[in-house]
Amino acid sequence: MFARSAARALSAPTAARLFSASATARTKVAVLGAGGGIGQPLSLLLKNDPLVTSLSLYDIRGAPGVAADVSHVDTGSEVNGYAADQLDQALEGVKVVVIPAGVPRKPGMTRDDLFNTNASIVRDLATAVGRVAPDAHILVISNPVNSTVPIVASTLQKAGVYDPRRVFGVTTLDVVRAARFLAGLVDASPAETGVTVVGGHSGATIVPLLSQSSFGKTITGEKLDKLVHRIQFGGDEVVKAKDGAGSATLSMAYAGAKFTNALLRGLNGEKGVVTPTFVQSPLFADQGVDFFSSNVELGPNGVEKIHPIGQVTEYEEKLLAACLPELKKNIEKGRAFVA
Ligand SMILES: NC(=O)c1ccc[n+]([C@@H]2O[C@H](COP(=O)([O-])OP(=O)(O)OC[C@H]3O[C@@H](n4cnc5c(N)ncnc54)[C@H](O)[C@@H]3O)[C@@H](O)[C@H]2O)c1
Repeated sequence: MFARSAARALSAPTAARLFSASATARTKVAVLGAGGGIGQPLSLLLKNDPLVTSLSLYDIRGAPGVAADVSHVDTGSEVNGYAADQLDQALEGVKVVVIPAGVPRKPGMTRDDLFNTNASIVRDLATAVGRVAPDAHILVISNPVNSTVPIVASTLQKAGVYDPRRVFGVTTLDVVRAARFLAGLVDASPAETGVTVVGGHSGATIVPLLSQSSFGKTITGEKLDKLVHRIQFGGDEVVKAKDGAGSATLSMAYAGAKFTNALLRGLNGEKGVVTPTFVQSPLFADQGVDFFSSNVELGPNGVEKIHPIGQVTEYEEKLLAACLPELKKNIEKGRAFVA
């Protein structure tokens, strides 16, 4: 049942269906890192989202230029750009903060290799959000997501303003890739091949539950191994093809805008908005893994309900067994950074 809702929330890769304008409430959204490879197209896509009333673009480099450019698009929202020393102004009154700030991977790097640079960037931005917009929902794109989300949580906790219903790691790109790659294999539309992807957002921590998809369960043997590997390491294809110029930016912007729209619909009271996202979760907390991505229902307060992972095959149990210890390490590393 929830798999169908997830498919509804995450299907339809056309601009027309990317954004639903059914709800009337509108929201101020900030992008921190708006001048970057993800930040620029993400800002453009958010400018096109009718649920965004005001767009606040911040970066240590280039945000006023991006804002001037994007502001000419003939949609209803107003756009403002903020320079490096204007972070607090950028965050005033925002309800949703999307964070793609930080460095991307180069060939041969894992997401964890980014930790040293991105951990402090994300911590400092979360500190500012906690101070200026403590009720905002924070959507973390900066890698390694498995560690940067716990960093945001611990930073807000330290400031006394942490609400686990409002902090999300954006794992939507894994879901988008899974649907697209599966569609290619079974000759169907990605709208029909939605896959619930659980766990975390790096290599073996990415666990696609293909058995829960009517198309996915037809894939077996070596074909299944290859598909799972491609979903887990699809990011490497982009890093390699870009040959030193970074990682996924356009598909990530698409995925980031899609998740932001899902959250905005939930905040506006739309029912049945369900999508995987990396949040503080009870599902594997007894094994020391207190952040986990599974299908989450989004509502007026952010996380409304965390769905269990549902029935899995023996094959998927093995994937989960490989995921959990690595995820635990990544989460502990993030927490330790703030402690
Ligand atoms: N979650 C995902 O699925 C996913 C997918 C792809 C990339 N990423 C991650 O997203 C991040 C950004 O990737 P990118 O390709 O856009 O990189 P990029 O280098 O093109 O852009 C990053 C931007 O962040 C800005 N920045 C740096 N420090 C900042 C700070 N303190 N405050 C505000 N802005 C700051 C930079 O000036 C730059 O404009 C990377 O960490 C990357 O690994 C995540």
